[in-house]
Amino acid sequence: MKSVFPYDSVELSPSGREVVVIDQTQLPGQERFLHLVTAEQVFYAITRLKVRGAAAIGIAAAFGLAMCVNRYRTRSLQAFEKEFLRVKHYLYISRPTAVNLMWALDRMERCFYSTLQGLPADETDDRHAIEVLRNALIAESRAIKAEDVKMCEAISQLGFSLLRPGCGILTHCNAGHLATSKFGTALGPIYLAQQQGYSPRVYCDETRPLLQGARLTAYELSKAGIDVKLVCDNMAATLMAQGKIDFVFVGCDRVAANGDVANKIGTNGVAIIAKYYKVPLYVFAPTSTIDLDCPKGESIVLEERPSFEMTDLFFSKPIAPKGVQVYNPAFDITPASLISGIITEKGIIRPRDVKNLRKLK
Ligand code: MRU
Repeated sequence: MKSVFPYDSVELSPSGREVVVIDQTQLPGQERFLHLVTAEQVFYAITRLKVRGAAAIGIAAAFGLAMCVNRYRTRSLQAFEKEFLRVKHYLYISRPTAVNLMWALDRMERCFYSTLQGLPADETDDRHAIEVLRNALIAESRAIKAEDVKMCEAISQLGFSLLRPGCGILTHCNAGHLATSKFGTALGPIYLAQQQGYSPRVYCDETRPLLQGARLTAYELSKAGIDVKLVCDNMAATLMAQGKIDFVFVGCDRVAANGDVANKIGTNGVAIIAKYYKVPLYVFAPTSTIDLDCPKGESIVLEERPSFEMTDLFFSKPIAPKGVQVYNPAFDITPASLISGIITEKGIIRPRDVKNLRKLK
């Protein structure tokens, strides 16, 4: 699969001392890269959505943790372990809904302790042990990204198998190159379709309030030469009533054990409309987003974000009375009953097979 971008959204520098991310808050106006060198900078980049999208924040957190302990200077293994756990727990709470964040950091912790256990029983040189741990953690964080690239390719192929030439696709938020290591999840099949000469027609919801659709999806798809039209979030019903949409493709931040799905606020509304107009809605979810500890959608914590993002952020003047109360949930839950299939890198789970989610983990 060919990437349409000359850069990755998240990188660890060759020295392992910098996490490099494209600042997604500056897109589409400027392609500006941030070089993050402290845990606080990584935390801030994640909470302010400079790096965003479930897969990308998991990768950024793993890189961030590896980078921080790589920079930490100590001769004591105990101090090194303490610093590792401090940074891990700190980054763990940078955003609450996308389970990839916790999944990636837990994986880094498993790597830490399995590497420690693998050291010779008579190892007494703390400096050597720290060096081994540093190298293992850097390698593990790079493996998380490399696996994500493979996951995106597999998921894109599966999504592509549903498409036919000239079909119309509606997408919400951004589950593309920027939200992952490369290629994307929900946008991956669209890139493949374009490369195969299918000329897909894409409608992208602007995705209020942070405009990931307008700023990021429209930027990505138009850069790739894809026929993309930006629409406001309240236009989905009209598009479907006019027969312009054959599929809805969306990404995912967490899949509960019963097949309910958390994704960007507004996804559930689109899903309800799609059900009414009999348009199939597919959720693209790497197996790392399946959370079997969450029995159903209601158990997923939904992030709430500050009011200024709704009233001020993208406007030259505030669009609401000063001090007005605001409710700004960043995600919603789409019930399994509205989903035609959950597309993972290991296969498509249909609603009747939702119990098979367990087998994929
Ligand atoms: O708040 P965001 O922009 O991080 O939300 C992103 C989404 O909702 C995406 O659809 C999801 O993370 C999937 S990314 C492959």
